[in-house]
Amino acid sequence: MKLLFIGDVVGSPGREMVEEYLPKLKQKYQPAVTIINGENAAGGKGITEKIYRRFLELGANAVTLGNHAWDNRDIFEFIHDAPHMVRPANFPEGTPGKGMTFVKSHVGEIAVINLQGRTFLSPNDDPFRKADELINEAKKRTNLIFLDFHAEATSEKQAMGWYVDGRVSINVGTHTHIQTADERILPQGTGYISDVGMTGPYDAILGMDREVVLKRFLTNLPVRFEVPKSGRKQLSGFLADVDERSGNATKVKRILINEDHPFFS
Ligand SMILES: [Fe+2]
Ligand SMILES: [Fe+2]
Repeated sequence: MKLLFIGDVVGSPGREMVEEYLPKLKQKYQPAVTIINGENAAGGKGITEKIYRRFLELGANAVTLGNHAWDNRDIFEFIHDAPHMVRPANFPEGTPGKGMTFVKSHVGEIAVINLQGRTFLSPNDDPFRKADELINEAKKRTNLIFLDFHAEATSEKQAMGWYVDGRVSINVGTHTHIQTADERILPQGTGYISDVGMTGPYDAILGMDREVVLKRFLTNLPVRFEVPKSGRKQLSGFLADVDERSGNATKVKRILINEDHPFFS
């Protein structure tokens, strides 16, 4: 079975790319499961109920989040009624929402897990021990396990990849918004990439207006990051073939769509 993942969707430019290309990607690759990271989908900060539901309408089976999960207050109104959305599972005990969900497909259930790194990010619970706990729980139901590890440091991301190798089908990294060229299948069968990259403004800095970010670098003055409303856009994704019986990845592929990397249907 094929699994398609779309990296951090940033603001309306990112959502427009999902609207335009998700149907085309689904047509081309026929994934059994599609997952989207939506932590920046609402103006670069968080997600709203409307956007979450639109992602599902477009054919996403699950939505993952990250450190921006709570940036749009709308989430507190609907997270309890969003069974296909996960926030990092190692957020403190008592945090709204959940860190693992199960989605149905024609080949059976797939566990979708979201975890967040601790290097250069908030000191949450240990994502490695949390991974053990959730993988053991998921294995009671299915061999097909997807992990979105939302982290800053490539070292922490690689460490997670090796830690879960052979225990999850796919471990993608998110958060840095820059796609890494290290996609591979680890020796025990886990399909891996350090970061899938970002879906949104192309001529920007990590999806944010480059003038504003430059001002911050040049002056250190407080600035308000904003998603540019116009300009070129890109989509970053990851596609994996997974053997349904073993749960091992058999093929992995990076997806990058922008003017320098055109999409061929
Ligand atoms: Fe992000
Ligand atoms: Fe993030």
